Amino acid sequence: LGKDIISLPECHSTNDVAMEKIKSREAAEGTIVITEKQTKGKGQRGNVWESQEGKNLTFSLVLSPKFLQPMQQFDLNIAISIAIHELLSEYVSGLKIKWPNDIVHETDGKVGGILIENIIGQGCLEFSIAGIGLNINQRFFENLSATSLANLSGFDFDKWEIFKLLIHKIEINYLELKKGNLKKMYQYYLNNLFRYQEWASFSDSENFVGMIIGVQDDGRLIIQKEDGSQNYYAVKEVGFL
Ligand code: BTN
Repeated sequence: LGKDIISLPECHSTNDVAMEKIKSREAAEGTIVITEKQTKGKGQRGNVWESQEGKNLTFSLVLSPKFLQPMQQFDLNIAISIAIHELLSEYVSGLKIKWPNDIVHETDGKVGGILIENIIGQGCLEFSIAGIGLNINQRFFENLSATSLANLSGFDFDKWEIFKLLIHKIEINYLELKKGNLKKMYQYYLNNLFRYQEWASFSDSENFVGMIIGVQDDGRLIIQKEDGSQNYYAVKEVGFL
Protein backbone atom coordinates (compact mmCIF):
# COMPACT_ATOMS: atom_id res chain seq x y z
CA LEU A 1 0.00 0.00 0.00
CA GLY A 2 1.12 3.53 -0.67
CA LYS A 3 3.31 2.85 -3.69
CA ASP A 4 1.31 5.45 -5.61
CA ILE A 5 0.75 8.64 -3.68
CA ILE A 6 -1.26 11.50 -5.13
CA SER A 7 -0.29 14.49 -3.04
CA LEU A 8 -2.34 17.65 -3.44
CA PRO A 9 -1.77 21.00 -1.71
CA GLU A 10 -5.53 21.45 -1.59
CA CYS A 11 -8.66 19.59 -2.64
CA HIS A 12 -12.35 19.37 -1.74
CA SER A 13 -12.22 15.90 -0.17
CA THR A 14 -9.56 13.22 -0.61
CA ASN A 15 -12.36 10.61 -0.58
CA ASP A 16 -14.03 12.35 -3.51
CA VAL A 17 -10.75 12.68 -5.41
CA ALA A 18 -10.06 8.98 -4.80
CA MET A 19 -13.55 8.13 -6.09
CA GLU A 20 -12.98 10.16 -9.27
CA LYS A 21 -9.60 8.50 -9.81
CA ILE A 22 -11.08 5.02 -9.38
CA LYS A 23 -13.83 5.79 -11.87
CA SER A 24 -11.36 7.10 -14.44
CA ARG A 25 -9.16 4.04 -13.75
CA GLU A 26 -6.29 6.19 -12.55
CA ALA A 27 -6.21 4.65 -9.08
CA ALA A 28 -5.50 1.00 -8.39
CA GLU A 29 -5.45 -0.76 -5.03
CA GLY A 30 -2.92 0.81 -2.71
CA THR A 31 -3.14 4.33 -4.13
CA ILE A 32 -3.24 7.09 -1.53
CA VAL A 33 -4.66 10.56 -2.02
CA ILE A 34 -3.33 12.97 0.57
CA THR A 35 -3.71 16.70 1.05
CA GLU A 36 -2.73 19.52 3.38
CA LYS A 37 -6.08 21.23 3.08
CA GLN A 38 -9.59 20.01 2.40
CA THR A 39 -12.20 22.57 1.50
CA LYS A 40 -15.06 20.09 1.87
CA GLY A 41 -13.81 17.36 4.20
CA LYS A 42 -16.50 14.81 4.85
CA GLY A 43 -17.24 13.09 8.13
CA GLN A 44 -19.66 10.33 8.96
CA ARG A 45 -23.42 10.87 8.85
CA GLY A 46 -23.03 13.83 6.51
CA ASN A 47 -20.90 15.80 8.99
CA VAL A 48 -18.09 18.14 7.98
CA TRP A 49 -14.50 17.18 8.84
CA GLU A 50 -12.54 20.25 9.93
CA SER A 51 -8.76 20.15 9.97
CA GLN A 52 -6.28 23.00 10.14
CA GLU A 53 -4.18 23.30 7.00
CA GLY A 54 -0.80 21.56 7.17
CA LYS A 55 -1.04 20.40 10.77
CA ASN A 56 -2.73 17.05 10.50
CA LEU A 57 -3.12 13.99 8.33
CA THR A 58 -6.05 13.84 5.92
CA PHE A 59 -5.84 11.11 3.33
CA SER A 60 -7.71 8.36 1.56
CA LEU A 61 -6.49 4.89 0.86
CA VAL A 62 -7.85 2.97 -2.11
CA LEU A 63 -8.43 -0.70 -1.43
CA SER A 64 -10.01 -3.43 -3.48
CA PRO A 65 -11.21 -5.96 -0.91
CA LYS A 66 -12.93 -8.29 -3.34
CA PHE A 67 -12.56 -11.05 -0.76
CA LEU A 68 -15.23 -9.31 1.35
CA GLN A 69 -18.94 -9.52 0.72
CA PRO A 70 -20.89 -6.27 1.05
CA MET A 71 -22.33 -7.51 4.36
CA GLN A 72 -18.79 -7.90 5.71
CA GLN A 73 -17.83 -4.28 5.20
CA PHE A 74 -17.57 -3.63 8.92
CA ASP A 75 -14.56 -5.98 9.05
CA LEU A 76 -12.56 -3.38 7.17
CA ASN A 77 -13.57 -0.76 9.73
CA ILE A 78 -12.24 -3.00 12.46
CA ALA A 79 -8.94 -3.70 10.71
CA ILE A 80 -8.28 -0.02 10.04
CA SER A 81 -9.50 1.47 13.29
CA ILE A 82 -7.41 -0.90 15.37
CA ALA A 83 -4.33 -0.15 13.23
CA ILE A 84 -4.77 3.53 14.06
CA HIS A 85 -5.48 2.83 17.71
CA GLU A 86 -2.43 0.57 18.04
CA LEU A 87 -0.11 3.10 16.49
CA LEU A 88 -1.35 6.22 18.28
CA SER A 89 -1.32 4.37 21.59
CA GLU A 90 2.45 4.14 21.23
CA TYR A 91 2.52 7.95 21.63
CA VAL A 92 -0.28 8.71 24.10
CA SER A 93 -2.24 6.69 26.60
CA GLY A 94 -5.96 6.64 27.26
CA LEU A 95 -7.09 6.24 23.66
CA LYS A 96 -10.21 4.26 22.83
CA ILE A 97 -12.12 3.31 19.72
CA LYS A 98 -15.55 4.84 19.88
CA TRP A 99 -18.10 2.89 17.87
CA PRO A 100 -18.11 2.63 14.96
CA ASN A 101 -14.61 3.90 14.30
CA ASP A 102 -13.71 7.16 16.01
CA ILE A 103 -10.41 7.37 17.80
CA VAL A 104 -11.05 9.23 21.04
CA HIS A 105 -9.26 9.98 24.26
CA GLU A 106 -11.37 8.64 27.10
CA THR A 107 -11.76 12.06 28.68
CA ASP A 108 -10.37 14.63 26.23
CA GLY A 109 -12.21 14.15 22.95
CA LYS A 110 -11.77 12.96 19.42
CA VAL A 111 -8.37 12.56 17.78
CA GLY A 112 -9.31 10.81 14.58
CA GLY A 113 -12.07 9.58 12.36
CA ILE A 114 -12.55 7.21 9.47
CA LEU A 115 -15.00 7.41 6.60
CA ILE A 116 -15.11 4.31 4.44
CA GLU A 117 -17.00 4.51 1.15
CA ASN A 118 -17.53 1.40 -0.92
CA ILE A 119 -18.13 0.52 -4.53
CA ILE A 120 -20.08 -2.71 -4.52
CA GLY A 121 -19.30 -5.10 -7.37
CA GLN A 122 -20.72 -8.51 -8.13
CA GLY A 123 -21.35 -9.81 -4.63
CA CYS A 124 -18.18 -8.27 -3.27
CA LEU A 125 -16.52 -5.00 -2.38
CA GLU A 126 -14.98 -3.94 -5.66
CA PHE A 127 -13.36 -0.88 -4.11
CA SER A 128 -13.26 0.68 -0.68
CA ILE A 129 -12.03 4.18 -0.06
CA ALA A 130 -10.76 4.44 3.49
CA GLY A 131 -10.69 8.14 4.34
CA ILE A 132 -8.68 8.87 7.46
CA GLY A 133 -8.43 12.13 9.35
CA LEU A 134 -6.00 12.31 12.28
CA ASN A 135 -5.43 15.38 14.41
CA ILE A 136 -1.70 15.48 14.96
CA ASN A 137 -0.25 18.97 15.57
CA GLN A 138 -3.33 21.19 15.61
CA ARG A 139 -3.58 22.96 18.97
CA PHE A 140 -6.83 24.91 18.81
CA PHE A 141 -10.20 23.52 17.88
CA GLU A 142 -13.49 25.27 17.39
CA ASN A 143 -15.19 22.00 18.10
CA LEU A 144 -14.67 21.50 21.81
CA SER A 145 -14.98 17.74 21.55
CA ALA A 146 -11.89 17.50 19.34
CA THR A 147 -8.26 17.21 20.37
CA SER A 148 -4.90 16.16 18.90
CA LEU A 149 -1.84 14.12 19.71
CA ALA A 150 0.03 17.38 20.37
CA ASN A 151 -2.59 18.56 22.85
CA LEU A 152 -2.68 15.21 24.60
CA SER A 153 1.09 14.90 24.92
CA GLY A 154 2.36 18.48 24.95
CA PHE A 155 4.75 17.73 22.05
CA ASP A 156 4.68 18.25 18.32
CA PHE A 157 4.98 15.17 16.13
CA ASP A 158 6.57 14.27 12.82
CA LYS A 159 3.34 13.55 10.97
CA TRP A 160 5.15 11.90 8.05
CA GLU A 161 6.67 9.37 10.38
CA ILE A 162 3.21 8.60 11.74
CA PHE A 163 1.84 8.39 8.20
CA LYS A 164 4.51 5.89 7.15
CA LEU A 165 4.10 3.70 10.21
CA LEU A 166 0.33 3.80 9.91
CA ILE A 167 0.27 2.64 6.29
CA HIS A 168 2.52 -0.22 7.32
CA LYS A 169 0.19 -1.23 10.16
CA ILE A 170 -2.89 -0.98 7.97
CA GLU A 171 -1.19 -3.16 5.38
CA ILE A 172 -0.46 -5.84 7.97
CA ASN A 173 -4.06 -5.86 9.19
CA TYR A 174 -5.41 -5.79 5.66
CA LEU A 175 -3.39 -8.90 4.80
CA GLU A 176 -4.67 -10.61 7.95
CA LEU A 177 -8.21 -9.78 6.91
CA LYS A 178 -7.52 -11.19 3.46
CA LYS A 179 -6.37 -14.42 5.07
CA GLY A 180 -9.62 -14.54 7.03
CA ASN A 181 -7.98 -13.85 10.40
CA LEU A 182 -10.49 -11.43 11.83
CA LYS A 183 -10.90 -13.01 15.26
CA LYS A 184 -7.88 -11.46 16.98
CA MET A 185 -8.60 -8.05 15.45
CA TYR A 186 -12.24 -8.23 16.56
CA GLN A 187 -11.08 -9.05 20.09
CA TYR A 188 -8.65 -6.10 20.06
CA TYR A 189 -11.48 -3.88 18.82
CA LEU A 190 -13.74 -4.94 21.69
CA ASN A 191 -11.00 -4.68 24.31
CA ASN A 192 -10.37 -1.08 23.30
CA LEU A 193 -13.93 -0.05 22.58
CA PHE A 194 -15.11 3.05 24.42
CA ARG A 195 -17.71 2.04 27.07
CA TYR A 196 -17.41 -1.68 26.38
CA GLN A 197 -19.03 -3.62 29.21
CA GLU A 198 -19.78 -0.44 31.12
CA TRP A 199 -23.17 1.04 31.87
CA ALA A 200 -23.53 4.09 29.68
CA SER A 201 -26.07 6.34 28.07
CA PHE A 202 -26.89 5.99 24.38
CA SER A 203 -28.76 8.21 22.02
CA ASP A 204 -30.88 6.60 19.34
CA SER A 205 -34.40 7.66 18.43
CA GLU A 206 -34.54 8.18 22.19
CA ASN A 207 -31.97 8.13 24.99
CA PHE A 208 -31.48 4.99 27.02
CA VAL A 209 -29.06 3.36 29.41
CA GLY A 210 -27.33 0.14 28.47
CA MET A 211 -24.11 -1.78 28.20
CA ILE A 212 -22.25 -2.75 25.03
CA ILE A 213 -21.64 -6.48 25.15
CA GLY A 214 -20.50 -7.06 21.58
CA VAL A 215 -20.65 -6.05 17.95
CA GLN A 216 -22.66 -7.92 15.33
CA ASP A 217 -21.15 -9.07 12.01
CA ASP A 218 -23.05 -6.28 10.29
CA GLY A 219 -21.43 -3.73 12.60
CA ARG A 220 -24.38 -3.02 14.85
CA LEU A 221 -23.74 -2.83 18.57
CA ILE A 222 -25.18 -5.52 20.80
CA ILE A 223 -26.50 -3.61 23.79
CA GLN A 224 -27.97 -5.05 26.95
CA LYS A 225 -30.49 -2.93 28.81
CA GLU A 226 -31.10 -2.72 32.53
CA ASP A 227 -34.08 -5.10 32.28
CA GLY A 228 -31.73 -7.75 30.85
CA SER A 229 -33.02 -7.51 27.27
CA GLN A 230 -30.51 -7.46 24.41
CA ASN A 231 -30.86 -5.83 21.06
CA TYR A 232 -28.87 -4.62 18.05
CA TYR A 233 -28.33 -0.92 17.55
CA ALA A 234 -26.69 1.52 15.20
CA VAL A 235 -26.95 4.32 17.74
CA LYS A 236 -26.27 7.98 17.02
CA GLU A 237 -24.16 8.53 20.10
CA VAL A 238 -22.35 6.29 22.56
CA GLY A 239 -21.61 7.10 26.16
CA PHE A 240 -22.53 10.77 26.30
CA LEU A 241 -23.28 12.31 29.68
C1 BTN B 1 -15.69 11.02 11.00
O1 BTN B 1 -15.19 10.81 12.09
O2 BTN B 1 -16.79 11.55 10.90
C2 BTN B 1 -14.92 10.61 9.78
C3 BTN B 1 -13.91 11.63 9.39
C4 BTN B 1 -13.13 11.27 8.16
C5 BTN B 1 -12.27 12.40 7.67
C6 BTN B 1 -11.34 12.01 6.57
S1 BTN B 1 -10.16 13.24 6.21
C7 BTN B 1 -9.66 12.41 4.77
C8 BTN B 1 -10.91 11.83 4.14
N1 BTN B 1 -11.53 12.77 3.23
C9 BTN B 1 -12.71 13.18 3.66
O3 BTN B 1 -13.43 14.01 3.07
N2 BTN B 1 -13.02 12.60 4.83
C10 BTN B 1 -11.97 11.67 5.24
